[in-house]
Amino acid sequence: MTAMRRLTLMWLVTFLVYNGANGLDQPNFFIGTGRADITGPAAEINMMGYANPKQDTQGIHFRLYSRAFIIADHANSHRVVYVSADIAMVSQIIKIEVVKKLKTHYGDIYTEMNVCLSSIHTHSGPGGFLQYLLYDITSLGFVAESTDAIVNGIVKSIQIAHERLVPGDIFINRGTLLDSNINRSPTAYLNNPQEERDRYQYDVDKDMVVLKMVNSTGAAIGMISWFAVHCTSMNNTNHLISGDNKGYASYLFEQHMNPGSLPGEGDFVAAFAQANEGDVSPNTRGPHCLDTGLPCHMNTSTCNGKSELCVAFGPGVDMADSTRIIGNNQFIKALNLYNNATRKLSGPVDFKHQNVDMTNVQVNLSDGSQAHTCKPAMGYSFAAGTTDGPGAMDFTQGTTQGNALWNLIRNFIKKPSAEQTACQLPKPILLDTGEISYPYSWQPDIVELQLLRVGDFIIVAVPGEFSTMSGRRVRSNVTATLAQHGFPETTETVIAGLSNTYSSYITTFEEYQVQRYEGASTIYGPHTLQAYIQHFNVLAAAIAQNSTVDKGPSVPYLRDKQLCFVLPVVYDGSGIGKSFGDVLTDAKPKYVVNTTVSVSFVAGHPRNNLMTGATFLTVEWWNPEQSTWHVAYTDSSWETRFKWTRTSSLLGKSQATVEWDIPAAAMPGVYRMRHFGHEKSVTGDIHPYAGTSASFIVETMEEASPRGIEGPRADTFYQHVGLHAQAPHPSLSMAEILKRIKLNKTVLKDKLRQIRQAD
Ligand SMILES: *[C@@H]1O[C@H](CO)[C@@H](O)[C@H](O)[C@H]1NC(C)=O
Ligand SMILES: *[C@@H]1O[C@H](CO)[C@@H](O)[C@H](O)[C@H]1NC(C)=O
Ligand SMILES: *[C@@H]1O[C@H](CO)[C@@H](O)[C@H](O)[C@H]1NC(C)=O
Ligand SMILES: *[C@@H]1O[C@H](CO)[C@@H](O)[C@H](O)[C@H]1NC(C)=O
Ligand SMILES: *[C@@H]1O[C@H](CO)[C@@H](O)[C@H](O)[C@H]1NC(C)=O
Ligand SMILES: *[C@@H]1O[C@H](CO)[C@@H](O)[C@H](O)[C@H]1NC(C)=O
Ligand SMILES: *[C@@H]1O[C@H](CO)[C@@H](O)[C@H](O)[C@H]1NC(C)=O
Ligand SMILES: *[C@@H]1O[C@H](CO)[C@@H](O)[C@H](O)[C@H]1NC(C)=O
Ligand SMILES: *[C@@H]1O[C@H](CO)[C@@H](O)[C@H](O)[C@H]1NC(C)=O
Repeated sequence: MTAMRRLTLMWLVTFLVYNGANGLDQPNFFIGTGRADITGPAAEINMMGYANPKQDTQGIHFRLYSRAFIIADHANSHRVVYVSADIAMVSQIIKIEVVKKLKTHYGDIYTEMNVCLSSIHTHSGPGGFLQYLLYDITSLGFVAESTDAIVNGIVKSIQIAHERLVPGDIFINRGTLLDSNINRSPTAYLNNPQEERDRYQYDVDKDMVVLKMVNSTGAAIGMISWFAVHCTSMNNTNHLISGDNKGYASYLFEQHMNPGSLPGEGDFVAAFAQANEGDVSPNTRGPHCLDTGLPCHMNTSTCNGKSELCVAFGPGVDMADSTRIIGNNQFIKALNLYNNATRKLSGPVDFKHQNVDMTNVQVNLSDGSQAHTCKPAMGYSFAAGTTDGPGAMDFTQGTTQGNALWNLIRNFIKKPSAEQTACQLPKPILLDTGEISYPYSWQPDIVELQLLRVGDFIIVAVPGEFSTMSGRRVRSNVTATLAQHGFPETTETVIAGLSNTYSSYITTFEEYQVQRYEGASTIYGPHTLQAYIQHFNVLAAAIAQNSTVDKGPSVPYLRDKQLCFVLPVVYDGSGIGKSFGDVLTDAKPKYVVNTTVSVSFVAGHPRNNLMTGATFLTVEWWNPEQSTWHVAYTDSSWETRFKWTRTSSLLGKSQATVEWDIPAAAMPGVYRMRHFGHEKSVTGDIHPYAGTSASFIVETMEEASPRGIEGPRADTFYQHVGLHAQAPHPSLSMAEILKRIKLNKTVLKDKLRQIRQAD
């Protein structure tokens, strides 16, 4: 029996059981949700996004996850998979490897055609997972550890979703979220035609679309929201792995729906997916000069001619606070739309997919003439970066004249052909990536285009960062084409940004003329967007007419060619008289809420073991009633930070600092902090170790939170996450503990009971 047949049979059985059981209307779909850890190397790997060579990983604020949603049509065997991964972008090599692995498990159920991998665009994750050279230059080449962590985690999340497929329904809602995004290239946007701009109230999309997924008894199983905003609340000085504003919004939603679960655990899966965020910043206070505090030059985003002084600031007091605010805004809006969602999706599940060679697409222009796309190239303004992360080089945005030094270096790399120069006009070419193939391709020629259909809801999966107006043009063309073929007026479309392949930015023809960062990074030339519109139009017609489309050219797989200059971990040294896990700076005996506990340990290199699905730290609460430690926080908690620093390169010495911001509503009592890691000996063997701080008291407060009480017993938690540690008991007696936290047994029991009843 083929896997497909076995599944159909399984559905049939589930179906009969279900219908026999309650005789209600049958749900419209089968739905499965899954989540898995994709956090890559937490030390000494360059972060992907800002292309800042100095921004390497030095620990974890909170972990990165892949969130997978399988939606299947019970009328036929069609199913689609939508993944939102907490990474900067999905690369072609990730898509190829994920599909290859899925094929070994499930045969032809999951293919490049019906699996859509998209990403949230965090700029605070380890890089080196793209197969095209330009994107791996600052990470010193391809990083297998980053790539494998992402590929394996995405596959695992899909496997979990596959195992949990149940009959269910999907509700959709759309609403407006203000104060959470601004246009970071407003002068380029203004170059779009007046009558087009007049159709929209804002120069960025403020709408959020939410899908609410429930099982056949109406129980919540999942949520996906789409909202366009860069995950650049954390700026290019951050060194801790973070899912930025969207990762934090998922964290809040999942904590809300999975009460008592540690982050990254619990069945409910909530994704905050990316849309047409190309020119959209979360830094709502806008760009200001670091030296004077005044607004930057509007057209060039410079201060006194320098781009590195012009930085956009978020709404918070610092970058973590801005992440919290923009994440919380998305969470609150999504929850509201989720709770109010009443329109039920119905209709077939379907998909269309096509590979397109973007380097020479003929486009028909509105005046009747024809033009074509170009081989990839990056313009000068690319080097200037953006106001979310200014470039380190002294180039100004909006440069349309070459700089002599750069012309020299550029020509040394490759002098663009006359044809390429003409094709890319008015872009002054800084890097002629499409005409260099040494040592391998610098940017893709072939990209993936994909449409997923769930009834009258359409996901347009785009291989890059579409500007606001570019996304609007694609959506309105797709929607109009579907309507022409009889789709209802209620049809909703979303742009799923940064999906399947990464090919930098896509602006409108008019925005391209202004050559800000996004225009300079629109790699296939001025007609890139029109080429996409034509192709998506064909896919939309095919969805509507249930016809097949050409597969297009196959995508290259370049893993064998990858170069890597990242050094391996040589060995770890603990220092004379010290062991790994020894406490260097211990906790104080007593803390009050709203302060931070910080403990440091003799550490091994975090790259020895990524602790996937586990943790580099725990904060544990002593339950005096049960005489057990409970895990209240891990390295995936917002309130904790795992920081790693090298203290001697020669001796291989390093230290881990574990921090916990004690929240106002923390449960009073006795706590301790632990650090888990692996050390590499000179012979190359890798061994686990653990360290434990002294127990300390957190003083009582009026409102206690359930954290720690509902958290798993530490000993069972260690087994669950594959950690190895005995759990020493606090030396204090229960009477002593209660005395110190100013509670008696009756009051404590009462507090615990209240907390448990509240859930
Ligand atoms: C729906 O989900 C709830 C909560 O997870 C569960 O208790 C219930 O058994 C599920 N029902 C079905 C039919 O899957
Ligand atoms: C910015 O560019 C616009 C359009 O080219 C121009 O009209 C305006 O004067 C420029 N502003 C400044 C401050 O240079
Ligand atoms: C990054 O954010 C911090 C505050 O968290 C701020 O001090 C710093 O100036 C910012 N740097 C840049 C380059 O944005
Ligand atoms: C539904 O939306 C309204 C208006 O925004 C809001 O006041 C209400 O709280 C929402 N309902 C739920 C259950 O979230
Ligand atoms: C472009 O125009 C040519 C000639 O009129 C036509 O054959 C072709 O189908 C058009 N292409 C698209 C994508 O509309
Ligand atoms: C959508 O785009 C195609 C290709 O450019 C074009 O032929 C068609 O007229 C467009 N449809 C609408 C409604 O704009
Ligand atoms: C499309 O056509 C196939 C047969 O060619 C059929 O099995 C399938 O149900 C159709 N899908 C839709 C959405 O109508
Ligand atoms: C702790 O901080 C919160 C939020 O800033 C504040 O509302 C609360 O009063 C503070 N509590 C104490 C005890 O300082
Ligand atoms: C515990 O403390 C509460 C409130 O302070 C008090 O009313 C109660 O009598 C105490 N119980 C015992 C057993 O000491």
